[in-house]
Amino acid sequence: MILLTALLFAIWVVLAGVHLGLPLFYFTWMKRRAYGKSYGLNVVGDFSYLPSLTVIVPTYNEATVISRKLRDIAQANYPKDRLDVIVVDGGSTDETVEEAWKSIKSGVVKGEVFEEAERQGKTVGLNRGLKHATGEMVCFSDAECEWDRDALRNAVKYFSDPMIGSVSGIHETRLDRKALSVRVEDSYRSVYRMLRIAESKIHSTPVAEGEIQLFRRGQFTEFDTSIGGDDTCAALCMVEKGFRSISAEDVIFYEPTPSSWKARFSQKVRRGQHVVQAFLKHRSLLRKKGIFSRVIFPMEIFLYIINPLLFPVFLATTFFLAIISLPFAVFVGIATLVAFLIPPLSKPALTHITNNLTMLMALVKEVKGEKQLVWTKIEENRSKPLAEIPVATG
Ligand code: GDD
Ligand code: MN
Repeated sequence: MILLTALLFAIWVVLAGVHLGLPLFYFTWMKRRAYGKSYGLNVVGDFSYLPSLTVIVPTYNEATVISRKLRDIAQANYPKDRLDVIVVDGGSTDETVEEAWKSIKSGVVKGEVFEEAERQGKTVGLNRGLKHATGEMVCFSDAECEWDRDALRNAVKYFSDPMIGSVSGIHETRLDRKALSVRVEDSYRSVYRMLRIAESKIHSTPVAEGEIQLFRRGQFTEFDTSIGGDDTCAALCMVEKGFRSISAEDVIFYEPTPSSWKARFSQKVRRGQHVVQAFLKHRSLLRKKGIFSRVIFPMEIFLYIINPLLFPVFLATTFFLAIISLPFAVFVGIATLVAFLIPPLSKPALTHITNNLTMLMALVKEVKGEKQLVWTKIEENRSKPLAEIPVATG
């Protein structure tokens, strides 16, 4: 019995080291080594350069928000004569197309609306938009998010470095701090926000956000319509081509976080699953040299795919060991209490658990072959104007 306990304990120590220690080490290392550094840009262009830019907005039943979206784009701190919008509608059954045309015809912003006869998924829409885009740069953006006024201008300047292939932004939560689901989401965001920026400063971050993502037109040409995760796929595709794909800390967008656990969970599962699809598609990047392929990408694959699989194994080993060893049970009990009662620890602890559960569910769906190429939008994100949602402080 003592031998079994000792053996199990040794296994548990290794598991804890990998499952909890490795992410902790990576986050801490990134924060110390890279987060406060510069992007290491090699500017050969002109920082004040403002190229013509086409914003592509895919829509499916976004009648309640599309005019707000177009107004928000028009309010960007960017020369109006260099900005145009393409709305690609995936066969909406509401008034999205009419609303979009209304805004365009009344002169809110220069633009066009393209319609698919039926819904075929976001990537089909994005590809259609890309074919018609005329700007020197293209920018993708979802219908229900808004941008900081300087987001576009700030994003464009990174392209003065010819190595930059994709620029995405940072989600600033405007939130209702009362809801626990939102607080958990915010703490998750703050950790990953740091990671995205730190990885970008070193080279590239594999995960991008479709709420704002820019490319030089012609450099990124087509989305794979058989998988989701368009944003992440495109970022990885640019790295594959030898460019850097960054998330920039001064490119800020706002998007409501659903306050119900159910909506939040299903959205996170889908987004996570789409990231996995993109990672698997671009897995050959692991065979390349350089810090992205040797450190960043393997670590992200670990965080999104391997560690969630270790989660139940780690839990089961912990429970089993606690049953056969009283001292261990006491130790685990105290450690758990400490982790959940001390605020600086409870945030990461809760984040760790929800993340792993979400990704586990995402992996199950992926294995079952439910690709989720079309999904039900989150209604509550469209019901109130973003400006009325309180801005998060700190
Ligand atoms: N044309 C078209 N066709 N557009 C679509 C379709 C479709 O079948 N389905 C959804 N869209 C549009 C929506 O109208 C919205 O503008 C955008 O795609 C994103 O959809 P949301 O419902 O807002 O989903 P999200 O906020 O959770 O999206 C996030 O995850 C996706 C991957 O799962 C974002 O990061 C997206 O950029 C990302 O693609
Ligand atoms: Mn969205």
